[in-house]
Amino acid sequence: MHAAIPAHGGTLINRVVEDSKKDELLKKSSTLPQIVLDERALSDLDMIASGALSPLTGFMNQADYLSVVESMRLKNGLPWTIPVTLTVSEEQAKKLKEGQEIALSDGKEVLAILELSEKYHFDKEKEASLVYRTTDQAHPGVAALREGGDWNLAGEVHVLNRVKYSDFLPYRLDPVDLRKAFHDKSWKRIVAFQTRNPIHRAHEYLQKCALETVDGLLVHPLVGKTKSDDIPADVRMKSYEILLEKYYPKNRTMLAVNPAFMRYAGPREAIFHALIRKNYGCTHFIVGRDHAGVGNYYGTFDAHYIFDEFEPEEIGITPMFFDHSFYCKSCDGMASYKTCPHDSASHVTLSGTKVREMLQKGEVPPKEFSRPEVVQILIDSMKK
Ligand code: ADX
Repeated sequence: MHAAIPAHGGTLINRVVEDSKKDELLKKSSTLPQIVLDERALSDLDMIASGALSPLTGFMNQADYLSVVESMRLKNGLPWTIPVTLTVSEEQAKKLKEGQEIALSDGKEVLAILELSEKYHFDKEKEASLVYRTTDQAHPGVAALREGGDWNLAGEVHVLNRVKYSDFLPYRLDPVDLRKAFHDKSWKRIVAFQTRNPIHRAHEYLQKCALETVDGLLVHPLVGKTKSDDIPADVRMKSYEILLEKYYPKNRTMLAVNPAFMRYAGPREAIFHALIRKNYGCTHFIVGRDHAGVGNYYGTFDAHYIFDEFEPEEIGITPMFFDHSFYCKSCDGMASYKTCPHDSASHVTLSGTKVREMLQKGEVPPKEFSRPEVVQILIDSMKK
C-alpha cells in the first residue's frame, strides 16, 4: 500500500464525537447557552469536523488569529493564511464566560459543543488590510467581515451532528472518503481543481494539462456561500456533470464538492485552498491566473508568487501554476501566453461580465470559449 499524503500538521483531524458519548453530550447541550451559527460559520464548523481544516480542532484563539493575520502562520509556525474564527457581537460575547461550554446550533438543532477557552476583541480593519490587502467596502470579503461582530469566540469543538445539507449529497465526500477513493483507484498523484465558476475551455485545458502528468483529477468546486453575481452552485454542478460525462476520462476523474465559502482573498486564499485539498488527500493543486480574485485587488499572478514565501515542504501539496490560457485561432487549439507565439487578436477570451451579457441577450458564446452543453445549461438557468 502506498503512503497517502499526510494532512496539514501531520494528522487528519476528526472532531465528531463517538456514538457512545453522543446522547450524554446532547442532553448536556440542552442546558448550555446557545449560539446560532450563520451559513459561513456552519461551513467552517463542518470542515473542522471532517478534518478538511486540519490541524484546526476548533475556532482560532487570539495568538493563532494574530499570527495568521500578521505572518500567515499558526502560532506553532505551520503555514496558515486565512483566519477561521467564530465571530459574535460584543453583546453576545459579554454574556459568555471563558471556561464555559456553549452549544452551537443551526437554529434547529445543536450541532456541537464549543469549549470556550477565550473570547477576544479583534481589529477588523487590520484583518481587512492584511488578509484581503484592502479596506475597500466593495471587496466582498471585506464587506462580509464588516457585517459581522467584532468579538471572536475560541475553543475546541466536539461535533454531535454534522451540518444537514440537502444538496449535492453524492458529492459531499469527506477527506476520509476521498482518501479511500484515491487509494481504491490506486491514484498516487492527484491534482485538485478549485473553481467557483462553470468550467470553460480554459479551465478544462488547465485540468487536462495537469492530468497529463499525474494519475487522477479531482474537480473540486466550491459550493459554500459565494457573492450574489457568481453563478449559483446548483447550476454549476449541472455543467460539471455533463462535461465530465462527455469530455473527461471516467477512470481518471472524480467530482466532489468543497463545502467552503469564498473569501475572495486572492493569494492568501490560494494557499488556503491548497492546504484544504492536501487534507482531502490530493498531492497537486492547480493555480491559474487571478486565483480566488475579485476586481483589481490582486496582481494576476500574486497567487503564484505567494507560494515563494513558504518552503515547499511546509506546504506539502505541490502547486501547478498556469499562465492565462485561451483558444488561439492561429494555433488552432488551446494555449496560453506561455506557449502561444501569436498576438491577442488570435485569442478567444471573454470576461465573466461579457459572457453574462451575451447569455442575457440570448447570444451564444463561441464553442472555443465554452462547450455548447455548458452554454445551454447557463441559458436555461437564466430563463428560469
Ligand atoms: S476561483 O475563484 O475559484 O479561483 P475560477 O473558478 O474562475 O475562480 O478559477 C478556477 C481556477 O482556474 C483558478 O486556479 C484560476 O486561477 C484558474 N483560471 C480561470 N480562468 C483561467 C484562464 N483563462 N487561464 C488560466 N487560469 C485560469
